[in-house]
Amino acid sequence: MQAYANRLISRKKSIAFVPTMGFLHEGHLSLMREGRKRGDVLVVSIFVNPTQFGEGEDFDSYPKDLERDLELARKENVDVVFTPDKVSLYENGFQTYVNLEKLPKHLCGISRPIFFQGVATVVTKLFNIVKPSVAIFGQKDYQQLAVIKRMVRDLNFDIEIVGAPTVREPDGLAMSSRNNYLKPEERLAALSLFESLSKAQNLCAEGVLDSDRIINEVKKLIHSHKDSKIDYISICDPDTLEDIKTIESPVVMALAVKVGKTRLIDNMIINY
Ligand code: PAJ
Repeated sequence: MQAYANRLISRKKSIAFVPTMGFLHEGHLSLMREGRKRGDVLVVSIFVNPTQFGEGEDFDSYPKDLERDLELARKENVDVVFTPDKVSLYENGFQTYVNLEKLPKHLCGISRPIFFQGVATVVTKLFNIVKPSVAIFGQKDYQQLAVIKRMVRDLNFDIEIVGAPTVREPDGLAMSSRNNYLKPEERLAALSLFESLSKAQNLCAEGVLDSDRIINEVKKLIHSHKDSKIDYISICDPDTLEDIKTIESPVVMALAVKVGKTRLIDNMIINY
């Protein structure tokens, strides 16, 4: 891949890059369409990255269907699907990680303490291998996008980072490879994430600007499903991700909920 990227660059071709963990859905495909517009050659990686999964998380059971993924990528006119294996990316003796000081201390980083170290490290490696001039990430993973943007600035990667909007099912559920785990009754409960965000937006529009009050209303909605457990609900600053008490400018509302055994996340910008 690196040799191929070098050849493209010497021929003055720009590379657009979409990193994924596979089991592709419309959300991933929307990033590919964005990438297609932004580079001469479009590279998609599929790699379920072990270093971003903690103990007891779903690394071993993460859904996979490479044949289907390749077919979907072909339909989107992807030029290269890069599928490294675990051993070639993390050979024996591997010991270098990328860490951010502050952004991972919020939201998902609290219950998944090694997650962003794993993401920042693998994305750095993939950037060095694929050598893109632009890379596309989904706003669905708001904190991940913030971490990547910060890392690219801090470490002077010469790569433009583009955030693409969240693609949702017709009823509002954000698309995710993990939606595949949901049983029918859980699928219903999963909708409460989107309903919570819409409710918060409505409350804010009606003049409710106190974050705790909004969060309390939303908690009732989520707890109306007995198998849902809140990991966090936060109304926070779009850049620092620090909690905001009173809404006085655009904020991000982000939440993570465990529906049965499946952990789901979603977020929305709430305009003041
Ligand atoms: P994965 O969960 O496969 O997601 C790959 C990319 O697709 C991410 O940028 C994610 O934000 C985006 N995405 C997922 N669901 C989306 C949706 N409904 N709408 C729009 N974009 C969506 O995120 C990862 O993989 C990994 O952490 C990775 C960055 C590849 C590093 O291992």
